[in-house]
Amino acid sequence: MNFGVVGAGQMGAGIAQVAAQSGFSVIVQDVKPEFLERGRATIQKSLAKLHEKGKLTETPDEIMGRIRFSTDLADFVDSDLVVEAIVENEAIKAELFRTLGRIVKADGILASNTSSIPITALASASGRPEQFIGMHFMNPVPLMALVEVIRGHSTSDETAQKVIQTAEQMGKTPLTCNDFPGFVSNRILMPMLNEAIQCVMEGVAEPQAIDGIMKLGMNHPMGPLTLADFIGLDTCLAIMEVLHKGLGDDKYRPSPLLRKMVQAGLLGRKSGQGFYTY
Ligand code: CAA
Repeated sequence: MNFGVVGAGQMGAGIAQVAAQSGFSVIVQDVKPEFLERGRATIQKSLAKLHEKGKLTETPDEIMGRIRFSTDLADFVDSDLVVEAIVENEAIKAELFRTLGRIVKADGILASNTSSIPITALASASGRPEQFIGMHFMNPVPLMALVEVIRGHSTSDETAQKVIQTAEQMGKTPLTCNDFPGFVSNRILMPMLNEAIQCVMEGVAEPQAIDGIMKLGMNHPMGPLTLADFIGLDTCLAIMEVLHKGLGDDKYRPSPLLRKMVQAGLLGRKSGQGFYTY
């Protein structure tokens, strides 16, 4: 399997790593060499940790040996499957898929790791809507079992089958849904995080108490505010906007506190400050 990944950020690096761990030959593309270097370092760190715990069947070097880093999209010409994991911006993703649709061999499948941008719209841009699908991995990719597989309006059964099989080969559990705003994962998760933020704004409880109540009371691995910081508050806001606009119901209204924190540049873990300091 020739596996392609566009974007060497946290998600792209994780997807490339898991694909290489499964024996696939992987190409990771990003626009600048320094982004690729950062992606390589992310993968090396994760592999070292997994190796230390005896969770790998090969050495990190053997796995790294199957990953090639490139700044050139033309390198995806022979890819069987290309998964996009770039910035969550519909226009930028659509432009990328227009390009990939022209480059990748005719029977190659294109997939997006988007957390909430309509799969059907990206599929149209790609020019190959039957061979287009959503492949939504969860962060941290090497540890999380789920791949949410999202069928666009025209995704063929054959494409869905191939992608489900590939996700299984990657040691993941694929679960399928249809293309509606937020799919399943974020339609259910984000309103919960948004509500936790609303609780902070209304002074219902301190962040530590809100997180503790959900962690200890509901057996969640992370409290909702810790998780929102982990995902990125800008990402949370963008997803709430998609739900609000796409479903047209005020129950999905982003919390004004969430909006204000994003305006202030408090984005969570990645900016060093969100509901907690990192
Ligand atoms: N690679 C390898 N090892 C990793 C790793 C990675 N990428 N990330 C963390 N680890 C390791 C940690 O270093 C730690 O190792 P040690 O035991 O040696 O210290 C180990 O995994 C366990 O981590 P922690 O002890 O820090 O914490 P934990 O037991 O709570 O597990 C977690 C971490 C798996 C992330 C867990 O907290 C969890 O499941 N959190 C919820 C994550 C979640 O909900 N993700 C989905 C977010 S939503 C999304 O991704 C999609 C979207 O569209 C927004």
